[in-house]
Amino acid sequence: MRATRNIVILTGAGVSAESGIATFRGPGGLWEGHRVEDVCTPEALRADPALVHRFYDLRRAALAGVVPNAAHHALATLDRDWAGGLLIVTQNVDDLHERAGATRLLHIHGALGSALCAACGARAPQTGALPPGSRCDSCGSAALRPDIVFFGEIPYEMDRIVEAIGACDLFVSIGTSGAVYPAAGFVEWANDRGAATIELNLERSAGSEQFDESRLGPASELVPAWVAEILAGQ
Ligand code: OAD
Ligand code: ZN
Repeated sequence: MRATRNIVILTGAGVSAESGIATFRGPGGLWEGHRVEDVCTPEALRADPALVHRFYDLRRAALAGVVPNAAHHALATLDRDWAGGLLIVTQNVDDLHERAGATRLLHIHGALGSALCAACGARAPQTGALPPGSRCDSCGSAALRPDIVFFGEIPYEMDRIVEAIGACDLFVSIGTSGAVYPAAGFVEWANDRGAATIELNLERSAGSEQFDESRLGPASELVPAWVAEILAGQ
């Protein structure tokens, strides 16, 4: 096995669960009876913009009441102390990784703290509620929407991700059910590249058998332990 130099980490809702943000597919994952698949679509945004905006307004507002947990902090420590390549790819739209201090980070599914102009594509920081019809500062259109990658839309920064996975020696998946592509397919790309692959999750995920190793338990315990190991071997 080659030495680990470049690491790619994929995180999902499970990493923020212990901060009090409900996961999508676990208990409490429904919102007023709606499945996330019914709210996070371009069709839903067209049919009922008020509902979709409200869904994200509530999630954005909830961020004020949560703080990063030990898993976010451990990943931020890794980001600071790992001398090799590192990219944290999060599917989460919360800002807990960056609040913990991570910087080598990208949000593949967008972010609650951002608004996207459906007319010109500009993205701007967003705090507070974003009512439908809010105006874009760049082009003036009343076309701002939550900056969230909906089902059927293309995730952000795929070129950078393809490049990072294509150069990684270790791929780590943390707190994700492996239900949503393309992120669920990253482990296959990493395997094709010959990288070591490890999953840290509360339970076995949809793609568990594709990982060299699965460690099962809460992220707040598994992630600090894994980070300590990897930094000790650096
Ligand atoms: P899911 O809700 O599908 O999966 C969360 C995973 O985290 C599950 O496998 C849980 O077992 C695990 N988990 C729960 N609590 C945990 C804990 N304390 N420690 C470790 N693991 C824990 O969430 P995602 O896989 O992130 O997309 O969902 C992927 C995408 O689906 C989301 O990014 C979202 C949603 O549609 C968009 O918003 C566009
Ligand atoms: Zn615009």
